[in-house]
Amino acid sequence: MCGIIGYIGNREATDVLIDGLKRLEYRGYDSAGIAVLNGHGIEVERAEGKLSHLEAKIHKHKPKGHIGIGHTRWATHGVPSERNAHPHHVEDVVVVHNGIIENYSQLRKELIQKGCHFKSETDTEIFCHLINEELKKTKEIQKAIANALKKVRGAYAIVVLYAKEPHKLYVAKLGSPLVLGFGKKENFVASDVPALLPYTREVAYLEDGEFAVVSDGSLNVVDSHGHPVTKKKTHIAWDALMAEKGGYKHFMLKEIFEQPRVVEQTIMGRIQLGSTQLTLEGIPKLFGATGFPFKQVAILACGTSWHAGMVAKYWFEQLARVPTTVHLASEFRYANPLIDSKTLVISISQSGETADTLAATQLAKQKKAKVLAICNVLGSSLTRASNATLYTHAGPEIGVASTKAFVSQMTVLYLLTLEMASRKKIMSKEELLTKMEEIRKLPQNLETVLQKADAIKKIAKECVNASHFLFIARGLQYPVALEGALKLKEISYVHAEGFAAGELKHGPIALVDKGVPVVALIPPSETYEKILSNVEEVKARGAFVIAVGEKGDEELEEKADAVIGLPKTVYSLTPILYAVPLQLFAYYIADFKGTDVDQPRNLAKSVTVE
Ligand code: AGP
Repeated sequence: MCGIIGYIGNREATDVLIDGLKRLEYRGYDSAGIAVLNGHGIEVERAEGKLSHLEAKIHKHKPKGHIGIGHTRWATHGVPSERNAHPHHVEDVVVVHNGIIENYSQLRKELIQKGCHFKSETDTEIFCHLINEELKKTKEIQKAIANALKKVRGAYAIVVLYAKEPHKLYVAKLGSPLVLGFGKKENFVASDVPALLPYTREVAYLEDGEFAVVSDGSLNVVDSHGHPVTKKKTHIAWDALMAEKGGYKHFMLKEIFEQPRVVEQTIMGRIQLGSTQLTLEGIPKLFGATGFPFKQVAILACGTSWHAGMVAKYWFEQLARVPTTVHLASEFRYANPLIDSKTLVISISQSGETADTLAATQLAKQKKAKVLAICNVLGSSLTRASNATLYTHAGPEIGVASTKAFVSQMTVLYLLTLEMASRKKIMSKEELLTKMEEIRKLPQNLETVLQKADAIKKIAKECVNASHFLFIARGLQYPVALEGALKLKEISYVHAEGFAAGELKHGPIALVDKGVPVVALIPPSETYEKILSNVEEVKARGAFVIAVGEKGDEELEEKADAVIGLPKTVYSLTPILYAVPLQLFAYYIADFKGTDVDQPRNLAKSVTVE
């Protein structure tokens, strides 16, 4: 997820671009750049790191001109660096892009064969070369851009500057957001509304497939068939901070609701419709062309990432028959672990900077293990310390409590499970296809779960004064129960614990008293009856039982005080769906309590100390 902006009008473009990028930094902040047409040609300025680095760089000589584009990056291809920062520029064509081009490797190869020289490792630079190549044929920029777009597969929001057309911005959108802003003798385009608010509240959202030509006094939009489109204007009433949160009260809530899109981005380019072929970057090099060369897997992580690892253990062992251990990184470091060169170590970290996980990873490497990172930040310390990285394309996670990164981690780990099962010939082609079909339904199923938000808010309201919460589950849901408890603890400061439901009778049931909320995760499974009896045990002692299960399960309606019914899916994917109601439950309780949801006390987004 990146932030892009374009401006054309009578102001100094550089001022508008920098100010707009500041309001889009929540979308990505590992490098930034602007390009301005200054009357003599294109002036491009880029810098690695936060936007302040770019500001310092141009402080003495701000590019002058009234039309320009800008970009603040969240790297998906090519580590954060000035060379990989946008805008990318080839001859008279300059581009900023938000999205992922799925077929960029193929296109890059073809363009290099045509004699194109690439200066960056990004997928975005493809657009510059494609447009430039098309220009040689069409001699007309709009047609050249349209032809180039037909060749790419994936998601894009792009703004193009063409030095020979100094009074127009060319804008196209497919799968990534773009909003147009209307001023007096000036117009704007940006990834999101916050960048526009200081100048205008009259906006129009581009739809997928639309192409716009923006000048300072006009706007021409066509749809994917080239037919003219009249854009309906919307008046934005939000203030700037609300706008950064997309109208949500907190970043955490926004990120919870981003999860369907995040799963789409995480699977994009990795599975193809009707094919059992998985494309997981770095895996062929790490695993070899075929087979699975490791004796065991050892997963290292902390906090929520450790819960993702616990879910992965079930998948790796039950679906791919790979012996798997899961370790708290802070414990692993001092445990003299039994790993060696035949061990695949998987280090999971949203930030890629967690000190304990980094130290545990170093120990794993000293013991000759190969390391695969599952990480959300390109170029972070963990990715540079690992043999390979599978990225979670969750975009920047601003809320300290991890939500969308957790769901994205599980999605990546599930794809990895299928890859291992396929390589070990454990799973038939039919079974693989079925599981992939279910993965493709995940975004829609997550949307359905999110529609339960108001019902979950009502349940949270009933529990807001409880001082103890229990989360119980069995099997694949057990790590999700732990995650639900962690979410509640860390943002509402209330005591909560997750238990394997079978353990209740070994002590924890002593905690159950009248009115104690017990959240029970009960998807249809071989342990369904067992956990139902656990529910009756706690009910008999006065608990307020909140059951999370499959929509329409009448037994849950009978036995529980409140039921959250979720869409039907294969059991193996239930952890991804069942995590979301628990995120919302924790969020609403914290919000009712008025705690600092996005930056809870005593916590940090990335624990870079031991
Ligand atoms: C999760 O909500 C917490 N913020 C925390 O447990 C976090 O998951 C943990 O610190 C690990 O962070 P990482 O994924 O960036 O390594």
